[in-house]
Amino acid sequence: MKIPVSKPVFWKNEEEYVNQAMQEGWISSKGRFIDQFEKDFASQFNYQYASTVSNGTNALHLALDVLGLGEGDEIIIPDFTMMAPVFAILQAGAIPVPVDVDYTWNIDVGQIENYITDKTKAILVVHNYGHPANMPLIKSICDRHKLLLMEDCAEVIGAKVGDQYVGSWGDASCFSFYANKIITTGEGGMIVTNNKELYEKAHSRKNMAFGCDNQSRFNHSSVGFNYRMTNLQAALGVAQLEFVEQAIAKKIHIAQVYKRLLADIDGLELPCEETWAKNVYWVFGIVITEGFGCSRNTLQDLLEEKGIETRNFFTPIHQQQFLKGYTFPGKYSNSRKLGENGLYLPSYMDLSDDEIEEVCSVILQIHRNMK
Ligand SMILES: Cc1ncc(COP(=O)(O)O)c(C=O)c1O
Repeated sequence: MKIPVSKPVFWKNEEEYVNQAMQEGWISSKGRFIDQFEKDFASQFNYQYASTVSNGTNALHLALDVLGLGEGDEIIIPDFTMMAPVFAILQAGAIPVPVDVDYTWNIDVGQIENYITDKTKAILVVHNYGHPANMPLIKSICDRHKLLLMEDCAEVIGAKVGDQYVGSWGDASCFSFYANKIITTGEGGMIVTNNKELYEKAHSRKNMAFGCDNQSRFNHSSVGFNYRMTNLQAALGVAQLEFVEQAIAKKIHIAQVYKRLLADIDGLELPCEETWAKNVYWVFGIVITEGFGCSRNTLQDLLEEKGIETRNFFTPIHQQQFLKGYTFPGKYSNSRKLGENGLYLPSYMDLSDDEIEEVCSVILQIHRNMK
């Protein structure tokens, strides 16, 4: 593809720090870069505790585990989501209960209480594509019904609700540092919390729940996991984090240029930014509506012919083939609309204004040809 949807950017110190980790001989999951990445990540976004993990999916599974969520517990989640949090819920033995999304492409807060039963134990908010969900309202629902609150922040590193970063509203929050994320460690993740006890549990269980001292090392305090990040990955993470503000500014700039150039084309729904939200525009998504003149799939094929890669939006939970046979409690018209008509455009950090202009002029041409 001439213009791919995503590629990682290395800012400055990545190679140097990874080389240092190698030269110092700390290549597994102990080492100074692990400690530094956790400390820097927590202080960058005002979290009290942060613990690195091997990827975002494992972060979610670990968070569910340390929060004591499992067998038979119902967990409310947006129907429109990447499937990793659903996998984590099912792996924990719990039941995902999807709720439709609103025009911000996040969980429709007004509908949540219709889905709460006496088995509901938590809300797992997934912030989609850069725009945060309305956390103050969701938190008040959790408080009212005594529910735990988790945030999946994989797609919203650095986003805010009011003055407060995502990831600090819930009991535990999870991040991914996959190669297409705002900062990357290749594969990797983080679990953050302001609760010391939860942090200590997560920190121990991700590392096999070894005993506390040399003598008791192999007398494990609980069932453990190997969900560890390596020091090599953390070295990458430290270097990426040094430029996280620039990365976010670049994402916002890309979105502003796309918004300006696509504003006058009929039949395109563009991403919004609520007054209370800071959208970090992880990717630039659009939704194709009738007025555009062709379907989402046709647009994708025509863009591909011009060397422009796109990615369609997530397939909602209620339409997943692996959940055939489940009875879902809602209608999910918004999430179905997004799943069928949404796509995201090239959005990587190094994308130039000229490339964005090229993408937009091809879209405009396709739109005109359809008339
Ligand atoms: C919202 C969300 N949650 C979780 C994940 C899973 O993270 P990982 O790929 O690091 O396991 C992703 C994407 O990768 C994601 O977009």
